[in-house]
This record gives sequence, C-alpha cells and structure tokens, in this order.
Amino acid sequence: MISATGRRTREACGGRAPESAQSRSDGDVEPARYPLMLDMAGRRAVVVGGGRVALRRARGLLDAAANVVVIAPSVLPELAALPVTVLPRRYRRGDLAAAWLAHATSDDPEVNAQVAAEAEEHRIWCVRADAAHASAAWTPAVTRHGDVTVAVTAAGDPTRSQRLRAAIALALADGGLPAHRGRGPRGTGSVALIGGGPGDPGLITVLGRRLLAEADVVVTDKLAPRALLAELDPDVEVIDAGKQPHAHNLTQTQINDLIVGRALAGRRVARLKGGDPFVFGRGGEEALACVRAGVPFQVVPGVSSAIAVPAWAGIPVTHRGITQDFSVVSAHLDPSQPGATVDWEAMARSTGTLVLLMAVAHLDAVAAELVKRGRDAATPVAVISDGTTAGQEVLISTLADVAAQAAASGVRPPAVVVIGDVVRLRDQLHPRSTAARTSPADVTPAADHAPDLAATA
Ligand SMILES: C[S@@+](CC[C@H](N)C(=O)[O-])C[C@H]1O[C@@H](n2cnc3c(N)ncnc32)[C@H](O)[C@@H]1O
Repeated sequence: MISATGRRTREACGGRAPESAQSRSDGDVEPARYPLMLDMAGRRAVVVGGGRVALRRARGLLDAAANVVVIAPSVLPELAALPVTVLPRRYRRGDLAAAWLAHATSDDPEVNAQVAAEAEEHRIWCVRADAAHASAAWTPAVTRHGDVTVAVTAAGDPTRSQRLRAAIALALADGGLPAHRGRGPRGTGSVALIGGGPGDPGLITVLGRRLLAEADVVVTDKLAPRALLAELDPDVEVIDAGKQPHAHNLTQTQINDLIVGRALAGRRVARLKGGDPFVFGRGGEEALACVRAGVPFQVVPGVSSAIAVPAWAGIPVTHRGITQDFSVVSAHLDPSQPGATVDWEAMARSTGTLVLLMAVAHLDAVAAELVKRGRDAATPVAVISDGTTAGQEVLISTLADVAAQAAASGVRPPAVVVIGDVVRLRDQLHPRSTAARTSPADVTPAADHAPDLAATA
C-alpha cells in the first residue's frame, strides 16, 4: 500500500515483514532505514528555518566541515554568528540547487513539506524536523568518543534516542564499552599514570576507567582496584608490579623501565596505582622517567585513601566546629629512626586531624611519640584496614591504647589511622547508621574491632 506519506509501506498483518522492519502505530510496517555516514566536507547543506533545531543541525554540519546555507526570515543570533551563509527570507522553490542535503526545520509544516518535495524531486536527502515518518532521512542522536562515532535512532522518537545516546556516552566515557582500538598497527605509545582510588572499583575516576579500558598494557599495584582487571580484554597484557604492600614484585627502577619500554614500543600503557599517584605513590618518579625518555604521559588524579578510607567508614577528616585542618603523614619509619623527617612535635601540638598512612608497623612508636610530645592520650583514634573493600575493618580506640589494641586484634596493612575528635562522628555517620546508604560497605559486615569508642568514652 501507499502510506499517507506517499511512500511504500507493508501491511503489518498481510505477509511477513522483515525482522529489521519497524511497526507503526497505524499498523503499517516500514522497512528498516539504511544507516550511513556522509562525508559532508565542502558540500552544500541547506537548512530551512532559523530556530533551535536549525542551530543544532548547523552545528552538526559545521563539525563535518559542510558548507551551510541557512534560509529563514528570522534567525537566532547564535545561529547567525556561526560560519554559515544566512539568506534572511522565506524559502523559495529552487533554493536546494547544488545542495547535497536539506534540513527542513521551519515551524511551518507547509514550508517543510515544500522543501521535502523539492528535495525528493532532485534526489536530495531531506530531514524534516516536524514529521519523522514523512521524512526521507533522519538525523540520529550522536555521541563521539575518540575515533568512535555512535549514532542512535529509535523509531523517530528523539527523546528515546537521546536517552539511549546519553547512556552509551556514559558507558563509553567510563570504559564500560570496548571502544579501544585493540592490537593493531603500533602507533605512538604513551603512559597514563592512573590513580585507581582506595580499592572499591567504583572509586576510580571516569577518565581513569576509560584510559584503563583503552590500554594495551596494564601495570598494576597491589592496592589498585584489581577487580577492574577482570573487565580487560583478554589480549591486554597485565603485569603485576606488587603482590604485597611494601613488598614489590618489581623494583621502582624496573617499573620505570617497563612502562617506558612498552610505551617506546608503541603501546598504550596504563599504570594503575592505588589512591592518588602523587600521594606516597611514587607517581612522580614514574612521570620523571617518562620525561627523561621523551614518552608522552598523562597523570590521572585518584581518590586518595587518606581521605576516602575515613570517609567510607563515616569519618570526615574536617568538620566545622571540630577541626579546620588535617595533615597526611607517612609513618612508615619509626620516629626515632635516622631519616625520619616528620615533625612529630608539630603534629603533637596541632589540634587538627592527623591521618597516618603506612603506620601499622610503627603504631606503638608513633602513638607514644605523639603522647610524649603533648597530644592528649585520650584523643580518639580510628584504624581502618582494607578500607572500601569487602574486608574493611575498623578499630576505634584512643591514642593511649591504640597500639596494644591493634596488635591484639591482629590489624594488618593496608590501614589508615585517623587521630582526632572527628573520629567521634563515626557513631552518627558510619554506613550502618544511615538506612539510605547503598554503598557496598552497607551490605558488607564491616567487622568492627572492639572496643568501640562509644563503649569506652
Ligand atoms: C604507598 S601508600 C599509597 C597511598 C595511595 N597513593 C593513596 O593516595 O591512597 C599505601 C598506604 O595507603 C593506605 N591505603 C591505601 N589503600 C588503603 C585501603 N584500601 N585501606 C586502608 N589503607 C589504605 C595505607 O596506609 C597503605 O599503607
């Protein structure tokens, strides 16, 4: 039958439609539309109409380097400001001469029908903005991701295609879709020093996740969010640079040589690190190795365990009325050891929150040093091990007792130690005290070590 649009359609019930056919509400079944990518560079496209839709179409066409002519009695200033030719008048028959493509976006359906008719006559593809099913061509909702273009149509329903486009754009951006080139001819290699966050795979940044998904080689640390490795393509080379905290499979020099060497061989290297690469992460050394070798590199900041691990456990490192500052300190050395450069005197005098990383081995010496230098022995302390992971455990204590209690409870690295009155807020803020929380910590029985501050205060 001939449809109301004058084009041939099939009856839904008379004969079997091809699988790709689309049903319409009037019972007709349209043949599937034929998708195509057009090279519009230097080719004329005529846009009839001067409003918002015309503006969007003109922008898209200019992105494709088309020669754009806009015809409308009145044109939005943003549209007139674009590098397009504006004819400030009504459409006239003959305006499509020399056009490869037409967009009928006027708010007058009669004008759009005339544009479409002229286009049909001259075999020019025409997109009607006012009547999808009367339109010879559709513009899809488009998202671009590097050299990948995804175009979505949804039976002429722009809202549906835009929703889908947004979801696909997000999945592409966060690396949830395999958009990377795969192993092809080797190009220029590069290194991305990616902060993976403290452990939960949701705490990597969108950029970090995307670069991870695009990598040919991933060099990972023990404390990186290793769950993300399971999502990599099977042909991605994964190199484990550290099995245990502080006990590396590879020396720092070997890691530097490895990432630089793979990049010089044309590989995209993702160096996946725990937390932030520049917070006690030796990311600076790896970046300098890239600089020395002339390898392009990018640093992707990460969510540092220093802040995120306490936050996940319900402890804000600052809180109005409690503290206005916090210090993050590496406590991997005994304070009495030569080479220990932390100013423990200043830390003891401060009323701010003290966050210690790598502190488990010397917790007794550090706590004693702080008390000796004047920090109140009753200051609340939290020791959070394996923070943000399924194995997270939290010990709440005081500066006087924390070392003995941590030893008795068998606390092991990795752990973040928080010293200060902000620890008390955990009573109200930790995940189990808020029904609305949906983080994994909610469903994971975070086996808090006794005694809790609430019991001892
Ligand atoms: C070498 S530092 C690296 C810090 C990292 N670059 C960051 O920004 O989080 C390792 C220390 O970070 C802390 N840490 C990292 N991840 C942790 C986690 N999930 N739970 C508790 N502590 C963690 C521990 O103190 C550990 O010893």
